[in-house]
Amino acid sequence: MILSIESSCDDSSIAITKIEDNRLIFHKKISQEKEHACYGGVVPELASRLHAIDLPNILEETKPYLNQLKAVAVTNQPGLGVTLLEGIAMAKTIAVTKNIPLLAVHHLKGHIYSLFIEKEQKLPLLVLLISGGHTQIIRVESLEKMTILATSIDDSVGESFDKTAKMMNLGYPGGPIIEQLALEGDEERFGFPVPLRNSKLIAFSLSGLKNAVRLAIESLGGAEGMSHQDKCDIAASFQKAVKLHLLQKSKKVFSQEKIKDFAIVGGASANLYIREAYEKLCKEFGKTMHTAPLAYCSDNAAMIGRYAVEAYKKELFTDPYKVDIVSTKKHQSGAEL
Ligand code: KG4
Ligand code: ZN
Repeated sequence: MILSIESSCDDSSIAITKIEDNRLIFHKKISQEKEHACYGGVVPELASRLHAIDLPNILEETKPYLNQLKAVAVTNQPGLGVTLLEGIAMAKTIAVTKNIPLLAVHHLKGHIYSLFIEKEQKLPLLVLLISGGHTQIIRVESLEKMTILATSIDDSVGESFDKTAKMMNLGYPGGPIIEQLALEGDEERFGFPVPLRNSKLIAFSLSGLKNAVRLAIESLGGAEGMSHQDKCDIAASFQKAVKLHLLQKSKKVFSQEKIKDFAIVGGASANLYIREAYEKLCKEFGKTMHTAPLAYCSDNAAMIGRYAVEAYKKELFTDPYKVDIVSTKKHQSGAEL
Protein backbone atom coordinates (compact mmCIF):
# COMPACT_ATOMS: atom_id res chain seq x y z
CA MET A 1 0.00 0.00 0.00
CA ILE A 2 1.03 3.61 -0.57
CA LEU A 3 0.10 6.41 1.81
CA SER A 4 -0.30 9.72 -0.03
CA ILE A 5 -0.51 13.25 1.34
CA GLU A 6 -1.93 16.40 -0.29
CA SER A 7 -1.53 19.88 1.24
CA SER A 8 -0.76 22.16 -1.73
CA CYS A 9 -3.53 24.65 -0.91
CA ASP A 10 -6.53 24.58 1.44
CA ASP A 11 -7.37 20.86 1.59
CA SER A 12 -5.67 18.51 4.06
CA SER A 13 -5.98 15.03 2.65
CA ILE A 14 -4.48 11.57 3.12
CA ALA A 15 -5.20 8.41 1.13
CA ILE A 16 -4.05 4.82 1.13
CA THR A 17 -4.01 3.02 -2.22
CA LYS A 18 -3.34 -0.62 -2.89
CA ILE A 19 -0.54 -1.06 -5.40
CA GLU A 20 -1.64 -4.31 -7.03
CA ASP A 21 -5.21 -3.31 -7.97
CA ASN A 22 -5.40 0.51 -7.45
CA ARG A 23 -8.03 0.04 -4.75
CA LEU A 24 -8.59 3.04 -2.50
CA ILE A 25 -8.40 1.60 1.00
CA PHE A 26 -8.68 4.87 2.89
CA HIS A 27 -9.37 8.46 1.89
CA LYS A 28 -10.11 11.50 3.98
CA LYS A 29 -10.07 15.18 3.23
CA ILE A 30 -10.63 18.14 5.54
CA SER A 31 -11.41 21.27 3.57
CA GLN A 32 -10.64 24.70 4.99
CA GLU A 33 -13.11 26.55 2.75
CA LYS A 34 -15.16 27.87 5.70
CA GLU A 35 -12.09 29.29 7.44
CA HIS A 36 -10.97 31.19 4.34
CA ALA A 37 -14.43 32.26 3.12
CA CYS A 38 -14.45 35.57 5.04
CA TYR A 39 -11.21 36.62 3.28
CA GLY A 40 -12.57 35.81 -0.22
CA GLY A 41 -9.56 33.59 -0.90
CA VAL A 42 -6.93 31.36 0.72
CA VAL A 43 -4.67 32.96 3.36
CA PRO A 44 -1.41 30.90 3.17
CA GLU A 45 -0.30 31.21 6.82
CA LEU A 46 -3.75 30.29 8.11
CA ALA A 47 -3.87 27.35 5.69
CA SER A 48 -0.48 26.13 6.91
CA ARG A 49 -1.54 26.27 10.57
CA LEU A 50 -4.74 24.35 9.81
CA HIS A 51 -2.78 21.65 7.93
CA ALA A 52 -0.55 21.30 11.00
CA ILE A 53 -3.68 20.43 13.01
CA ASP A 54 -5.68 18.43 10.47
CA LEU A 55 -3.02 16.23 8.83
CA PRO A 56 -1.91 14.54 12.10
CA ASN A 57 -5.57 13.97 13.00
CA ILE A 58 -6.22 12.21 9.69
CA LEU A 59 -2.96 10.25 9.97
CA GLU A 60 -4.15 8.92 13.31
CA GLU A 61 -7.04 7.19 11.48
CA THR A 62 -4.65 5.36 9.13
CA LYS A 63 -2.95 3.52 12.01
CA PRO A 64 -4.36 0.07 11.10
CA TYR A 65 -2.55 0.24 7.73
CA LEU A 66 0.78 1.80 8.68
CA ASN A 67 2.63 -1.51 8.95
CA GLN A 68 1.65 -2.45 5.43
CA LEU A 69 3.09 0.60 3.69
CA LYS A 70 5.50 0.08 0.81
CA ALA A 71 5.99 3.80 0.11
CA VAL A 72 4.82 7.28 1.03
CA ALA A 73 3.88 9.93 -1.57
CA VAL A 74 3.49 13.66 -1.20
CA THR A 75 2.69 16.67 -3.39
CA ASN A 76 5.82 18.83 -3.61
CA GLN A 77 4.83 21.22 -6.44
CA PRO A 78 3.15 23.47 -7.51
CA GLY A 79 1.29 25.07 -4.63
CA LEU A 80 1.67 27.38 -1.66
CA GLY A 81 5.17 26.94 -0.21
CA VAL A 82 4.10 27.14 3.42
CA THR A 83 1.33 24.57 3.00
CA LEU A 84 3.35 22.13 0.86
CA LEU A 85 5.94 22.09 3.66
CA GLU A 86 3.42 20.62 6.12
CA GLY A 87 2.76 17.59 3.91
CA ILE A 88 6.43 17.19 3.05
CA ALA A 89 7.49 17.20 6.72
CA MET A 90 4.99 14.45 7.47
CA ALA A 91 6.00 12.36 4.44
CA LYS A 92 9.71 12.68 5.28
CA THR A 93 9.09 11.54 8.84
CA ILE A 94 7.12 8.48 7.70
CA ALA A 95 9.70 7.56 5.03
CA VAL A 96 12.63 7.84 7.42
CA THR A 97 11.06 6.16 10.47
CA LYS A 98 9.58 3.30 8.43
CA ASN A 99 12.54 3.10 6.06
CA ILE A 100 10.33 3.10 2.96
CA PRO A 101 10.79 5.01 -0.32
CA LEU A 102 9.35 8.47 -0.87
CA LEU A 103 7.61 9.62 -4.06
CA ALA A 104 7.41 13.37 -4.72
CA VAL A 105 4.32 14.05 -6.85
CA HIS A 106 3.56 16.96 -9.18
CA HIS A 107 0.09 18.20 -8.20
CA LEU A 108 -1.09 18.68 -11.81
CA LYS A 109 -0.05 15.14 -12.72
CA GLY A 110 -2.09 14.09 -9.70
CA HIS A 111 -5.14 15.89 -11.15
CA ILE A 112 -4.65 13.97 -14.40
CA TYR A 113 -4.53 10.68 -12.49
CA SER A 114 -7.83 11.56 -10.76
CA LEU A 115 -9.25 10.01 -13.94
CA PHE A 116 -7.80 6.62 -13.02
CA ILE A 117 -8.74 6.32 -9.33
CA GLU A 118 -9.69 2.66 -8.79
CA LYS A 119 -9.25 2.11 -12.54
CA GLU A 120 -6.59 1.09 -15.04
CA GLN A 121 -4.80 4.02 -16.67
CA LYS A 122 -5.69 4.63 -20.30
CA LEU A 123 -3.24 6.72 -22.33
CA PRO A 124 -2.66 8.69 -24.54
CA LEU A 125 -5.05 11.45 -23.63
CA LEU A 126 -5.64 15.11 -24.33
CA VAL A 127 -6.43 16.86 -21.07
CA LEU A 128 -7.96 20.22 -20.25
CA LEU A 129 -6.87 21.07 -16.71
CA ILE A 130 -8.92 23.86 -15.12
CA SER A 131 -8.17 24.53 -11.46
CA GLY A 132 -7.68 27.40 -9.04
CA GLY A 133 -4.05 27.78 -10.05
CA HIS A 134 -3.88 26.58 -13.66
CA THR A 135 -5.58 26.48 -17.05
CA GLN A 136 -3.79 24.21 -19.50
CA ILE A 137 -4.31 21.77 -22.33
CA ILE A 138 -1.85 18.90 -21.96
CA ARG A 139 -0.96 16.02 -24.26
CA VAL A 140 -0.43 13.06 -21.95
CA GLU A 141 1.50 10.27 -23.65
CA SER A 142 2.85 8.49 -20.60
CA LEU A 143 3.69 9.01 -16.94
CA GLU A 144 6.91 10.71 -17.97
CA LYS A 145 5.81 12.49 -21.13
CA MET A 146 3.23 15.18 -20.64
CA THR A 147 3.45 18.21 -22.95
CA ILE A 148 1.70 21.53 -22.39
CA LEU A 149 -0.08 22.58 -25.59
CA ALA A 150 -1.80 25.70 -24.29
CA THR A 151 -1.66 27.63 -21.04
CA SER A 152 -3.07 30.77 -19.44
CA ILE A 153 -1.05 33.93 -19.83
CA ASP A 154 -2.63 35.43 -16.70
CA ASP A 155 -5.45 34.26 -14.37
CA SER A 156 -6.75 30.69 -14.26
CA VAL A 157 -10.36 29.61 -14.79
CA GLY A 158 -10.97 28.78 -11.11
CA GLU A 159 -9.37 32.04 -10.03
CA SER A 160 -11.63 34.02 -12.37
CA PHE A 161 -14.72 32.35 -10.84
CA ASP A 162 -13.37 33.12 -7.35
CA LYS A 163 -12.70 36.77 -8.19
CA THR A 164 -16.09 37.26 -9.85
CA ALA A 165 -17.75 35.89 -6.70
CA LYS A 166 -15.55 38.05 -4.48
CA MET A 167 -16.48 41.22 -6.40
CA MET A 168 -20.13 40.49 -5.58
CA ASN A 169 -19.40 39.53 -1.91
CA LEU A 170 -20.61 35.98 -2.52
CA GLY A 171 -17.94 34.05 -0.57
CA TYR A 172 -15.29 31.48 -1.42
CA PRO A 173 -14.79 29.26 -3.39
CA GLY A 174 -16.56 31.16 -6.14
CA GLY A 175 -16.89 28.36 -8.70
CA PRO A 176 -19.88 26.46 -7.29
CA ILE A 177 -21.60 29.72 -6.19
CA ILE A 178 -21.31 31.30 -9.65
CA GLU A 179 -22.42 28.08 -11.37
CA GLN A 180 -25.49 27.95 -9.12
CA LEU A 181 -26.47 31.62 -9.61
CA ALA A 182 -25.96 31.31 -13.36
CA LEU A 183 -28.81 28.79 -13.51
CA GLU A 184 -31.23 31.65 -12.74
CA GLY A 185 -29.43 34.23 -14.87
CA ASP A 186 -29.71 35.69 -18.37
CA GLU A 187 -26.41 34.84 -20.08
CA GLU A 188 -27.07 37.32 -22.90
CA ARG A 189 -27.56 40.39 -20.70
CA PHE A 190 -23.99 41.69 -20.52
CA GLY A 191 -22.39 40.30 -23.68
CA PHE A 192 -18.92 40.12 -22.11
CA PRO A 193 -16.09 39.93 -24.68
CA VAL A 194 -14.70 36.46 -25.34
CA PRO A 195 -10.96 36.66 -24.48
CA LEU A 196 -8.43 36.40 -27.35
CA ARG A 197 -11.28 35.85 -29.80
CA ASN A 198 -9.46 37.46 -32.72
CA SER A 199 -6.02 36.23 -31.77
CA LYS A 200 -4.28 33.31 -33.42
CA LEU A 201 -2.63 32.50 -30.08
CA ILE A 202 -3.54 29.08 -28.73
CA ALA A 203 -3.54 30.27 -25.13
CA PHE A 204 -5.93 31.32 -22.40
CA SER A 205 -6.42 34.70 -20.77
CA LEU A 206 -9.00 35.66 -18.17
CA SER A 207 -7.85 38.94 -16.67
CA GLY A 208 -9.51 41.08 -19.39
CA LEU A 209 -12.82 39.34 -18.78
CA LYS A 210 -12.40 39.92 -15.04
CA ASN A 211 -12.01 43.65 -15.74
CA ALA A 212 -15.12 43.71 -17.91
CA VAL A 213 -17.03 42.00 -15.09
CA ARG A 214 -15.67 44.52 -12.57
CA LEU A 215 -16.82 47.47 -14.72
CA ALA A 216 -20.30 45.95 -15.12
CA ILE A 217 -20.56 45.42 -11.35
CA GLU A 218 -19.46 49.01 -10.69
CA SER A 219 -22.03 50.32 -13.17
CA LEU A 220 -24.72 48.52 -11.15
CA GLY A 221 -23.62 50.26 -7.94
CA GLY A 222 -21.25 47.56 -6.68
CA ALA A 223 -22.14 44.44 -4.72
CA GLU A 224 -24.42 46.41 -2.35
CA GLY A 225 -26.34 48.13 -5.13
CA MET A 226 -27.09 44.95 -7.10
CA SER A 227 -30.28 42.93 -6.99
CA HIS A 228 -30.23 39.14 -6.78
CA GLN A 229 -31.19 39.02 -10.47
CA ASP A 230 -28.28 41.34 -11.40
CA LYS A 231 -25.88 38.91 -9.67
CA CYS A 232 -27.39 35.92 -11.46
CA ASP A 233 -27.14 37.72 -14.81
CA ILE A 234 -23.48 38.66 -14.18
CA ALA A 235 -22.73 35.06 -13.17
CA ALA A 236 -24.42 33.62 -16.28
CA SER A 237 -22.88 36.13 -18.70
CA PHE A 238 -19.41 35.64 -17.19
CA GLN A 239 -19.69 31.84 -17.27
CA LYS A 240 -20.81 31.94 -20.90
CA ALA A 241 -17.77 34.03 -21.91
CA VAL A 242 -15.44 31.58 -20.09
CA LYS A 243 -17.09 28.64 -21.87
CA LEU A 244 -16.83 30.24 -25.31
CA HIS A 245 -13.16 31.09 -24.68
CA LEU A 246 -12.28 27.56 -23.58
CA LEU A 247 -14.17 26.04 -26.51
CA GLN A 248 -12.65 28.32 -29.13
CA LYS A 249 -9.08 27.53 -28.12
CA SER A 250 -9.81 23.83 -27.54
CA LYS A 251 -11.21 23.55 -31.08
CA LYS A 252 -7.86 24.74 -32.43
CA VAL A 253 -6.03 22.10 -30.43
CA PHE A 254 -8.54 19.41 -31.44
CA SER A 255 -8.01 20.12 -35.11
CA GLN A 256 -4.25 19.64 -34.66
CA GLU A 257 -4.21 16.58 -32.39
CA LYS A 258 -5.19 13.08 -33.44
CA ILE A 259 -5.58 11.58 -29.94
CA LYS A 260 -9.14 10.29 -29.63
CA ASP A 261 -9.58 10.46 -25.85
CA PHE A 262 -10.14 13.79 -24.16
CA ALA A 263 -10.60 14.59 -20.47
CA ILE A 264 -11.33 17.59 -18.25
CA VAL A 265 -9.77 17.59 -14.77
CA GLY A 266 -9.21 20.02 -11.87
CA GLY A 267 -11.55 21.80 -9.45
CA ALA A 268 -13.42 23.73 -12.17
CA SER A 269 -14.09 20.50 -14.10
CA ALA A 270 -16.93 19.97 -11.61
CA ASN A 271 -18.80 22.69 -13.53
CA LEU A 272 -21.66 20.94 -15.32
CA TYR A 273 -22.31 23.83 -17.73
CA ILE A 274 -18.70 23.56 -18.98
CA ARG A 275 -18.84 19.74 -19.01
CA GLU A 276 -21.98 19.79 -21.16
CA ALA A 277 -20.41 22.17 -23.67
CA TYR A 278 -17.39 19.86 -23.99
CA GLU A 279 -19.55 16.80 -24.45
CA LYS A 280 -21.02 18.50 -27.54
CA LEU A 281 -17.60 19.56 -28.79
CA CYS A 282 -16.23 16.03 -28.39
CA LYS A 283 -19.13 14.62 -30.40
CA GLU A 284 -18.44 17.13 -33.15
CA PHE A 285 -14.75 16.10 -33.29
CA GLY A 286 -15.34 12.36 -32.79
CA LYS A 287 -13.57 12.29 -29.45
CA THR A 288 -14.51 10.33 -26.34
CA MET A 289 -14.81 12.49 -23.26
CA HIS A 290 -13.72 11.46 -19.76
CA THR A 291 -14.10 13.16 -16.39
CA ALA A 292 -13.25 12.20 -12.83
CA PRO A 293 -16.10 11.56 -10.37
CA LEU A 294 -17.21 14.90 -8.87
CA ALA A 295 -15.71 13.96 -5.49
CA TYR A 296 -12.21 13.81 -7.02
CA CYS A 297 -12.26 16.99 -9.17
CA SER A 298 -11.00 19.29 -6.43
CA ASP A 299 -7.77 18.66 -4.51
CA ASN A 300 -7.50 15.28 -2.82
CA ALA A 301 -4.89 12.71 -1.83
CA ALA A 302 -6.54 9.84 -3.73
CA MET A 303 -5.34 11.29 -7.05
CA ILE A 304 -1.83 11.75 -5.63
CA GLY A 305 -1.88 8.11 -4.51
CA ARG A 306 -3.10 6.89 -7.90
CA TYR A 307 -0.23 8.67 -9.66
CA ALA A 308 2.16 7.34 -7.00
CA VAL A 309 1.18 3.73 -7.77
CA GLU A 310 2.45 4.14 -11.34
CA ALA A 311 5.54 6.07 -10.19
CA TYR A 312 6.27 3.33 -7.63
CA LYS A 313 6.21 0.67 -10.34
CA LYS A 314 8.84 2.70 -12.20
CA GLU A 315 10.83 3.30 -8.98
CA LEU A 316 10.73 7.08 -9.39
CA PHE A 317 11.85 7.62 -5.80
CA THR A 318 13.21 10.76 -4.17
CA ASP A 319 15.73 10.82 -1.31
CA PRO A 320 13.63 11.72 1.77
CA TYR A 321 16.53 13.80 3.13
CA LYS A 322 16.54 15.89 -0.03
CA VAL A 323 12.85 16.25 -0.87
CA ASP A 324 11.72 19.85 -0.75
CA ILE A 325 9.16 22.20 -2.25
CA VAL A 326 9.91 22.99 -5.87
CA SER A 327 9.06 26.49 -7.05
CA THR A 328 7.43 25.88 -10.41
CA LYS A 329 8.08 28.42 -13.14
CA LYS A 330 5.19 29.68 -15.27
CA HIS A 331 5.13 27.06 -18.01
CA GLN A 332 5.19 28.04 -21.66
CA SER A 333 3.27 26.02 -24.18
CA GLY A 334 5.51 23.33 -25.64
CA ALA A 335 7.14 22.70 -22.24
CA GLU A 336 7.04 19.36 -20.48
CA LEU A 337 4.90 19.30 -17.37
O1 KG4 B 1 -8.21 21.84 -8.31
P1 KG4 B 1 -8.61 22.71 -7.17
O2 KG4 B 1 -9.34 22.08 -6.01
O3 KG4 B 1 -7.40 23.46 -6.57
C1 KG4 B 1 -6.27 23.86 -7.33
O4 KG4 B 1 -5.44 22.98 -7.67
O5 KG4 B 1 -6.22 25.08 -7.64
O6 KG4 B 1 -9.51 23.86 -7.80
C2 KG4 B 1 -10.14 24.83 -7.02
C3 KG4 B 1 -10.81 25.81 -7.95
C4 KG4 B 1 -11.39 27.02 -7.23
O7 KG4 B 1 -10.95 28.18 -7.90
C5 KG4 B 1 -12.88 26.83 -7.37
O8 KG4 B 1 -13.62 28.03 -7.42
C6 KG4 B 1 -12.98 26.08 -8.68
O9 KG4 B 1 -11.91 25.17 -8.63
N1 KG4 B 1 -14.25 25.37 -8.81
C7 KG4 B 1 -15.16 25.65 -9.79
C8 KG4 B 1 -16.28 24.82 -9.53
N2 KG4 B 1 -16.02 24.06 -8.41
C9 KG4 B 1 -14.76 24.42 -8.00
N3 KG4 B 1 -15.12 26.51 -10.82
C10 KG4 B 1 -16.20 26.56 -11.62
N4 KG4 B 1 -17.31 25.82 -11.43
C11 KG4 B 1 -17.40 24.95 -10.41
N5 KG4 B 1 -18.51 24.23 -10.22
ZN1 ZN C 1 -5.52 21.20 -7.56
